[in-house]
Amino acid sequence: MAHSTIMFLTTFLLFFSSLAFAKTHYHDFVVQATKVTRLCKTRSSITVNGQLPGPTLEVNNGDSLVIKVVNKAQYNVTIHWHGVRQIRTAWADGPEFITQCPIRPGGSYTYRFMISGQEGTLWWHAHSSWLRATVYGAIVIRPKERDSYPFAKPNHESVIVLGEWWNANPIDVIRQATRTGGAPNVSDAYTINGQPGDLYNCSKKDTFIVPMGSGETNLIRVINAALNQQLFFTIAGHKLTVVGADASYVKPFTTSVLMLGPGQTTDVLIKGDQPPRQYYIAARAYASAQGAPFDNTTTTAILNYTTTATSAASNSNPIMPNLPPFNDTKTATAFTTSFRSPGKTLVPTTIDENLFITAGLGINQCPKNANSNTCQAPNGTRFTASMNNVSFVLPSNYSLLQAHHHGIPGVFTTDFPATPPVKFDYTGNVSRSLWQPVRGTKVYKLKYGARVQVVLQGTSIFTAENHPIHLHGYDFYVVAEGFGNFDPKSDTARFNLVDPPLRNTVSLPVKGWAVIRFVADNPGTWIMHCHLDVHIGWGLAMVFVVDNGVGQLETLEQPPEDLPVC
Ligand code: C2O
Repeated sequence: MAHSTIMFLTTFLLFFSSLAFAKTHYHDFVVQATKVTRLCKTRSSITVNGQLPGPTLEVNNGDSLVIKVVNKAQYNVTIHWHGVRQIRTAWADGPEFITQCPIRPGGSYTYRFMISGQEGTLWWHAHSSWLRATVYGAIVIRPKERDSYPFAKPNHESVIVLGEWWNANPIDVIRQATRTGGAPNVSDAYTINGQPGDLYNCSKKDTFIVPMGSGETNLIRVINAALNQQLFFTIAGHKLTVVGADASYVKPFTTSVLMLGPGQTTDVLIKGDQPPRQYYIAARAYASAQGAPFDNTTTTAILNYTTTATSAASNSNPIMPNLPPFNDTKTATAFTTSFRSPGKTLVPTTIDENLFITAGLGINQCPKNANSNTCQAPNGTRFTASMNNVSFVLPSNYSLLQAHHHGIPGVFTTDFPATPPVKFDYTGNVSRSLWQPVRGTKVYKLKYGARVQVVLQGTSIFTAENHPIHLHGYDFYVVAEGFGNFDPKSDTARFNLVDPPLRNTVSLPVKGWAVIRFVADNPGTWIMHCHLDVHIGWGLAMVFVVDNGVGQLETLEQPPEDLPVC
């Protein structure tokens, strides 16, 4: 055979064998107003396909997804596939004005992307205003069909999506807060798979039930889809063995309580080793900000031993677990510092780009003649937030990705600072003169393949709190976290460069810091932001622009033809 024929056959066979098991999943997502009844009241909610939560996407690692989103609602919408790497497909990432213009009412857009090298649990949600309060759902990624879990196959799998419910229309809640400059109203309930559970009015009959067989093992995929609240999660009487988070496996460890920031997922195994009856599954706030109002209610579901239907125990109340106190930072930290990667990792040990980024709240002074109704934050101010003193402003004429790809000037500037413009005692008593950030659409440019370290440093400006910091387009290694101001001398020695966990959302400790590392091997415009929606709106975000590398496999694809325009 001629050399070229052999080459062709080999290439063909390699190509074929890598795709032999991969499937493409087609879905229609119709975003629409739907009547939803919760807490004794009915209101119109924006849902996908009339469901709350929306449909669960079940795929295998290596599969592709084609999802046509039709916007039949009265609001602009986009959908983000939270945690999906979107390698070369940034056009399908979803955050509005970052990778696309919003889908207008009456419009549609088809998201096309692939799952590669990720296994576990992710989720999808609207990435426009506060629509994700009701527009969200799970993504379950199982191993390739020829692969298996790195643990014994569970007898049963359940998805638990934690959400947050407002009696008012969430879009009205955030619009009012934007008008007044104050903090938005807190939610009226947390939910498990859309249901508040037994402890709320008018909710008992719809409480979500998780079946459990005696002696069996159940894999439970927990997702925090709440808008603005970190949550503790526990199951009465049962140990939780953590096996994964953010669609990466972890070295298994056992705990009685999880803490998830919005955006984070945790996969746990539980064993049916308790007397058969009913046990509450419960979640409530981990509220780290001193004195700030929060929703202090508790959502529940029921773990029901399938043998209980015939036993007397089913008539008694489910057993209630203990949940940590709301401000229990010690328990939250014990949990977040337990994560390790299962084997040796590819954490970069040489760094090309070393950034130090502060993250926290701020206050804007109002002009003297301002209407006091629009200055409802403390002392007649307006709330804001920033990274490295820049309060991020979304563009409105083009998405950043369009502007970057087509070289459209005037949409963003590339002067996001690599270090804070002023150094101060970040977690101490911060001088008032440092409370007011500048506004801007500033990005930080990265060369393809750059090895990046970001020291995230929380600030005590106005008030300190825990921030779930999420990076689009990447998983990153969390090499260390700690309290106080990051000290490069003593804290670098504590870095875990052996088996740090891989995440897409890191819990930045209250009055503390966290260090993440990643290789910039995915071209596009990638937003890094606090996943508390109230903080995104105030500008707690920045964007990395990652250049193309060499050749097609390191280059962003061409924009899809149906990409919405602004
Ligand atoms: Cu799950 Cu930019 O978010």
